[in-house]
Amino acid sequence: MAPPGVLNVGLIGLGTVGSQVAARLIERRDALARRSGGELNLCRILVRDPAKPRALEVPPGLITADPDLLLDDPAINVVVEVAGGDEPVRTFLERAIKSGKHVVTANKLVMARHGPSLLELAGEMNVDIHFEAAVGGGIPLISTFRTDLQANDIERIGAIINGTTNYVLGRMATDGIDFQAALAEAQAAGFAEADPTDDIDGHDATYKLAIMASIGFGARVAPEEIYREGIAGIQQVDFRYARELGYEIKLVAIGSRLDGRVEVRVHPALVPGGHPLAQVQGAYNAVFIEGDLVGQVLLVGEGAGGRPTASAVVGDLIDLARSIRRGVQLRSAFSFDPEVTLVPMDDVISRAYFRIRVADRPGVIAAIGTVFAEEQVSISSLIQKDQWVADGTAELVVTTHPASNGALERSRLRMGDLDTVRSVPAFIRIFE
Ligand code: HSE
Repeated sequence: MAPPGVLNVGLIGLGTVGSQVAARLIERRDALARRSGGELNLCRILVRDPAKPRALEVPPGLITADPDLLLDDPAINVVVEVAGGDEPVRTFLERAIKSGKHVVTANKLVMARHGPSLLELAGEMNVDIHFEAAVGGGIPLISTFRTDLQANDIERIGAIINGTTNYVLGRMATDGIDFQAALAEAQAAGFAEADPTDDIDGHDATYKLAIMASIGFGARVAPEEIYREGIAGIQQVDFRYARELGYEIKLVAIGSRLDGRVEVRVHPALVPGGHPLAQVQGAYNAVFIEGDLVGQVLLVGEGAGGRPTASAVVGDLIDLARSIRRGVQLRSAFSFDPEVTLVPMDDVISRAYFRIRVADRPGVIAAIGTVFAEEQVSISSLIQKDQWVADGTAELVVTTHPASNGALERSRLRMGDLDTVRSVPAFIRIFE
């Protein structure tokens, strides 16, 4: 057992985030003890390869590659996990909880896929799980939902929650850099996932939205249930046309509560230039929340990286230390309503932008107009853009009034089948 007032901490992972967590615990030991009301004693670190050279010098004997030395040590009160990935980490956390240890984790994948069952298990074992760092790096998001906004019915969450895609889209839009070059920059800067398709195809954003929607709406939302489109199809010309229309193109994560159902989706969107999400630059994240009492709240900050993420992890640890000392626990703040269902994507209502390559001859606009009319989609604007005299084609840009996603998708398919239409290279929903 740990001596009274001391919290013995076992750390899993000593990479970009782990080394910042360890550094803070070692270098700011006294200050953190004052804030926690007792010492936070880093007593073991689990890594894959103990021989790996590391920038951070940790006291000898702390590092091990044997999970049992950390998970089976009864003196360790808290497991802090910053290794990432699903297995074996999920099993490690389950073992920790079953042996009565509290958990602080930065693991979005584990919390998105297994959060509700781990929270339930923690409840049975009378321990806490803190996961502020799992979404949005250092931005105080989970605690905002958990405490400051808990009087509200959360009505809407609109977020830029993946730094890599925001960086790539920004470089393409503003500097004309091509997709692969911009992605290579994001990888070099270190905020892209090990497999960057997790970012580009929108998976990473679905994990984060699953966590936010589950907590915000009190519904169990699995990442696989979230409608998802990535950014790979966006072309340079779309940024130009979008700007001419007054929009920026962003990968957005949207959650809404509508008549007892929840709508969740991740896709590129045209965001009005005046909306705060349109101003979010580089690898920054931003989450726009609407609650019935509070109105609109915007949280912005660095959503990735060692130091911002360590800020959330160590903050959780201090919170946990204080609640253990006072004999109170936080997990009861999360509850999930099994009655809440998800809105099927076909029923989701949005405006949309289409870019359509057509034969430049009479009757084309009438044919396109007929498709939209038959699908009950009302056109908001239609502009003929570039023309290619050599092959007799032109490009039309159409924006629509709100319509169901089913009708918009059917319009896109039917237009693609018209003799006068060569292709429909872009269909991007408009964020409002
Ligand atoms: N790959 C993620 C991003 C890192 O780009 O936002 C933080 O989860």
